[in-house]
Order: sequence, then structure tokens, then C-alpha cells
Amino acid sequence: MERTFIAIKPDGVQRKLVAEVIRRFETKGFTLVGLKLMQVSRELAEQHYDVHREKPFFAGLVDFIISAPLVAMVWEGEGVVASARTIIGATNPLTAAPGTIRGDLGVSIGRNLIHGSDAVETAQREIALWFKEEELVSWSPSL
Ligand code: CMP
Repeated sequence: MERTFIAIKPDGVQRKLVAEVIRRFETKGFTLVGLKLMQVSRELAEQHYDVHREKPFFAGLVDFIISAPLVAMVWEGEGVVASARTIIGATNPLTAAPGTIRGDLGVSIGRNLIHGSDAVETAQREIALWFKEEELVSWSPSL
């Protein structure tokens, strides 16, 4: 089954939006298979955002990601990678559609609350980077 990596960034945790974000994924019908609150190391943040290493915002982005706790999650379900991107909305909250997490709750591109993997291959890389195999729980809702 397809899985994606989702992080509630420090601004989302600071603004007490953890439950709101989780609610949106749960009510959509996706299954939570990994969850942890983390104080992220600079090394992990730099590895995660390696593709943006040459961008002018890279240093500020890494500094922000390690500035306060973050919630790392893995969600599972059919088509979850693309669907999560839809639920999250455009990178810039100012142009993200109403009804999306960033469109409803986000403030600026540098404080856009949440990260979601942009493709299935990226999700596999990010899940392996953030979670050990034993931290993920394989289960199916049956109640
Ligand atoms: P995310 O989905 O985590 O992927 C890369 C992140 O870089 C993005 O969300 C934003 O938080 C950040 N980002 C992208 N563009 C800019 C920008 N112009 N200024 C600051 N941060 C940016």
C-alpha cells in the first residue's frame, strides 16, 4: 500500500495545529502508520531539504526546521502521496486554495505549516530518512 511522509513543521506545532492536521488526514480516510514528536538535528534537516541546497532560502529553512519541535508522520492509503498534496495545498499559503491546510491556516511561504512528499519515490526516500522500520506499524482499520 502507498505511503507518504508528512511533517507538521515547527510553526504548526507552536500554533497548536497538530490535532487539526491529523484530523484532516484521518477524516479523509488515510491510515496513520508512524508518528513522533522530534527536535530535528541540523544534519537531518539538511539531508531532507538537500534538493534545495543551492536555493537562497535553504539556510533559513534549515534554521527554522531545527528551531523547535516538529511532528513527523507516515500516512498510508491508495493514492495517498498525491491526495496529501491536495489536502495540504500550494506551497505558498497566500495562493493555496481555501479548504486546504495551507489555504485555511497558513501565513507565509516560509511558515507554511506542513511538508508532504511530492512523489512516490520521494516518499520512499523521506520515510527511510525519518523513520526506522520498527517505528512503523502495519495495520488496517477493522472496527
Ligand atoms: P516544503 O513543502 O517543506 O518544501 C520546501 C520548502 O521550502 C517549502 O515547503 C517552503 O517551506 C520553503 N520555501 C520554498 N520557497 C521558499 C521561499 N521563496 N522562501 C522561503 N521558504 C521557501
